[in-house]
Amino acid sequence: MNTSGVVIRDVMMRDGLQNLKDFIPTDVKIQLFRMLVASGIRHIEFASFVNPKAVPQFADASQLARAILPVTPTGVEVSALIPNLKGAQLALGSGVRRLAFVMSVSESHNMSNVRRATAESVDELKRILGLTEEFPDMIVDVGMACVFGCPFEGKISPEVVLRFVRRFYELGIRGMAVADTVGFGNPREIREVCRLCVSEFPDVTFSVHLHNTRGLGAANALAAYESGIRLIDGAVGGLGGCPFAPGTRGNTATEDIVYMFEAMGIPTGINIDALLDIAGYFQGIRPDIHFASNILEAGLPKLLGAVTRGGGEQKWS
Ligand code: COA
Ligand code: ZN
Repeated sequence: MNTSGVVIRDVMMRDGLQNLKDFIPTDVKIQLFRMLVASGIRHIEFASFVNPKAVPQFADASQLARAILPVTPTGVEVSALIPNLKGAQLALGSGVRRLAFVMSVSESHNMSNVRRATAESVDELKRILGLTEEFPDMIVDVGMACVFGCPFEGKISPEVVLRFVRRFYELGIRGMAVADTVGFGNPREIREVCRLCVSEFPDVTFSVHLHNTRGLGAANALAAYESGIRLIDGAVGGLGGCPFAPGTRGNTATEDIVYMFEAMGIPTGINIDALLDIAGYFQGIRPDIHFASNILEAGLPKLLGAVTRGGGEQKWS
């Protein structure tokens, strides 16, 4: 296996916080951002520019953008999720230049999430791309939700997904995320879809966004890597979930994915202890929240020293 490195994009600040009812103060979000940067994360999705009535957590998205963009070091990518033209305008007006346009490949989930048919979302995307003249440095990536199944419609066929990918490609999109929004996917399916995407569009940067609903997040991330994907989402502490997709649970924890890749000799450039500090900081702020992270629970492997005949751990003898 080619063990070239992998980029982990952390989405804790966006996906991880969007489901939390109580507003997290902007200062705390700024501190999370600083800690993520310090850990070595090189791509951070920090908020959504959405209707604050739909997702009150991001009512401060513009303010947050203005606070973090000036302190973002060169080499760190910052992106925000947008569902429509208004979101794009607000994000661009706040200085954000990398936009993650979200739509679902399932009609029902798209209606639940952004109140549009998929064809209407594609039309909205075209209107957003019309802003290129005014903002020539903007980059629009597309995130496809429910690629591996939808809580309303069940499995989605890879051919349906590929039709969307081809449409986005024709529109000039060169960054696309395939998302397992509710954790229906398994490694075989991840491999199939990722291979189809990568082989048909070698000039597109595909990424995966894998919710760990049923414990397959890390296995799915590895399947994606083995299929040629080099950009993988995670969320510190395993937080996350779409408020408009019943049955959703957290993302695969960034620290679990980083641990897996580093243990396999695949570099991530990320310091796991620093990720655990972020989770610890946020746990201190919100002790009520349930984290879902194996490394947070178990810690990194520790050596206790050799077991000898005279002592040691053999409690049964
Ligand atoms: N940012 C801020 N406000 C927005 C907005 C945006 N991107 N898009 C719409 N609004 C505001 C409008 O100004 C309008 O405000 P008003 O009530 O004060 O007049 C109101 O929202 C309704 O606008 P409308 O265009 O009719 O939107 P809608 O009600 O059909 O909602 C979405 C569509 C997409 C904006 C809404 O469903 C949404 O924000 N969904 C969130 C999706 C999400 O974050 N999912 C989780 C991530 S996958
Ligand atoms: Zn998600």
